[in-house]
Parts: sequence; C-alpha cells; structure tokens
Amino acid sequence: MSLELQVNYRKAEEKDWKKVLELYNCLSAEDLYLRFFSYHKLSEEEAKKIVSGGDHYTIIVELGDKIIGEGTIYTDGEFALVVHPDYRRLGIGTEIVKRLIEVAKEKKFCGVKFYTLPDNYPMIRIGKKLGFTITEDSDEVFGYLKLNCN
Ligand code: COA
Repeated sequence: MSLELQVNYRKAEEKDWKKVLELYNCLSAEDLYLRFFSYHKLSEEEAKKIVSGGDHYTIIVELGDKIIGEGTIYTDGEFALVVHPDYRRLGIGTEIVKRLIEVAKEKKFCGVKFYTLPDNYPMIRIGKKLGFTITEDSDEVFGYLKLNCN
C-alpha cells in the first residue's frame, strides 16, 4: 500500500532512548507481550539497551520528531518489532522486516526467525508475504526465512 507519511527508517542511536521509551509507553499490555513475550513496562535501562547495539541491531522509524516504530534483530537471526498503534496498517511493519532481512544478509546470517502468538494476524501476514516458512501450533507460531550465508 502507498504510504503518504514522511517516515524515515534508520539505525537506532544512543540519543534515541527517550523517544523509544515514549513509543513503548503508548503500547497496550498485549502489544508489550507480543514484543517481549512478557508483561512489563519498559524501564529506562531497557530502552537504553535497545538503542545501544552490541548483540543486536535496531532500526527505528521516525515521523517528525517522534519514533513510531522499532525493530530489533539479534545475532541468532531472531527479530521482533513494534509499530505505534496510531500508525498500523500502513505498511511500516512490513518495511521494518524487509530492512531487518537486509541487515541479516549484510551480516551473513544463515536465516532470520520470529516467534509470535497464533492470533497475531498482522505478524503472520508479514511473514507469509515475505516468504517465511510458517510453523503453527496451538500456542505459538514460528516463522523462518533461510538466507544464503556462504
Ligand atoms: N486487521 C487485519 N489486517 C491487518 C491488521 C488488522 N488489525 N493489521 C495489519 N494487518 C495486515 C495489513 O493489511 C498487512 O497485510 P497486507 O500487506 O496484505 O495489506 C499486514 O497485516 C502487515 O501490515 P503492516 O502495515 O505492514 O504492519 P503494521 O505496521 O501494522 O505492524 C505489527 C505490524 C505486528 C508490527 C503491529 O501490529 C504491532 O506493533 N503489533 C504489536 C507488537 C507485535 O505483535 N510485534 C511482533 C512481534 S514478532
């Protein structure tokens, strides 16, 4: 779908932590669970860790001076993302995943993967659209996309 919003995708930097925290403060308990597989409010320390890199690479989505999306991929290829509730269904989640796949290819990862819940239609839809193999059981969905790491 065409995206009219002037959004900017870039690697997260340390200075972004407060805006990442603001993004997380707008999320429902369910959204937080889907992102972290646990129910908890993000702390300042955790927001700082997300933007700090190290064992992971984080992409943020900017709209004006706000951060409205975030996606993180770890060295084992697992990734997770979130989009601000007011800006969903505009293709931002799909674009974040496409860009995380590009990061994984540059880093020569052998595959990328995600875990989610069976009722997370948007995430499963993104996975199917982008060619992931989706394995569903009653309490979890696993998405895997093999990359060429040789
Ligand atoms: N009902 C029906 N379809 C929906 C939908 C809804 N509520 N929300 C999204 N979709 C569809 C879109 O139409 C699109 O399909 P299409 O390309 O066939 O039109 C697909 O799902 C992806 O939509 P997109 O706009 O790219 O994603 P998004 O920006 O809305 O973000 C999530 C998707 C999953 C990141 C967002 O819903 C979110 O932040 N959820 C909470 C956290 C989460 O679940 N993270 C994933 C952890 S792995």
